[in-house]
Amino acid sequence: MLRPAGAGDLDALHAIMRQPRAMAYWSTPPHDTIDATREWLAAMIAIRPEEGEDFIVESEGRVIGKAGFYRFPYIGYLFDPAVWGRGYAREAVGAVVARAFAHHRLSRILADVDPRNAASIRLLERLGFTESHRQERTWLVGEEWCDSVYFALERPAA
Ligand SMILES: CC(C)(COP(=O)(O)OP(=O)(O)OC[C@H]1O[C@@H](n2cnc3c(N)ncnc32)[C@H](O)[C@@H]1OP(=O)(O)O)[C@@H](O)C(=O)NCCC(=O)NCCS
Repeated sequence: MLRPAGAGDLDALHAIMRQPRAMAYWSTPPHDTIDATREWLAAMIAIRPEEGEDFIVESEGRVIGKAGFYRFPYIGYLFDPAVWGRGYAREAVGAVVARAFAHHRLSRILADVDPRNAASIRLLERLGFTESHRQERTWLVGEEWCDSVYFALERPAA
C-alpha cells in the first residue's frame, strides 16, 4: 500500500534510515539520531503537491519503505534491507511511475544514482529507464565524494 507520510512514521523510518546497508548509496550518511530522521520526515510531509509527491510503502500493516518524488521529475526510493529482493520495490516504484505519467502528466522521469548501486540500477532498467549520462564528484556524503549516473524514462506515447 502506498499512502502519504505522517508524524507517526518516525520510528519506522528511523529504523530503516539508521542502517548503513540501507544508506550506503544515499545522499546522506545513515541517520545517527532520531532527530535526523525527524527533520527528513518533516521535509517529506511538507512537500507541496505542485512540487512533488512522496509515499510511505506498507506491506501487511508494516512500513517497509518509501517511493516517490521529493521534487518532480526526480524519483527516489528506499526500502528496508529486510525486504530486499522480493519485488516490493519494483511494484511500488512501478506504481509511482505509472501515476506520474497518467495523473501528473510528467513528460519524463529522472533518476540520479550512485554508479555502485547495482540494485537501484537494475530496478530502473527493469522499469524501462535508460542511462543518459554520468558525472563525477556530484555528492559529498560525509567525507566521501560520490559520482552519479543519470537515468531517464520518457512518457510512453498514447
Ligand atoms: C534499490 C532498492 C530499492 C532495490 O530494492 P529490491 O528489494 O532489491 O528491489 P526488487 O526486489 O524489486 O528488485 C529489483 C531488481 O534488482 C535486482 N537486485 C536486487 N539486489 C541487487 C544487487 N545487489 N545487485 C544487482 N541486482 C540486484 C533484483 O534481483 C531485481 O531484478 P529482477 O527484476 O531482474 O529480478 C533497494 O536496494 C534499496 O532500498 N536500497 C537502498 C536505498 C537506495 O539506494 N535507493 C536508491 C537511491 S538512487
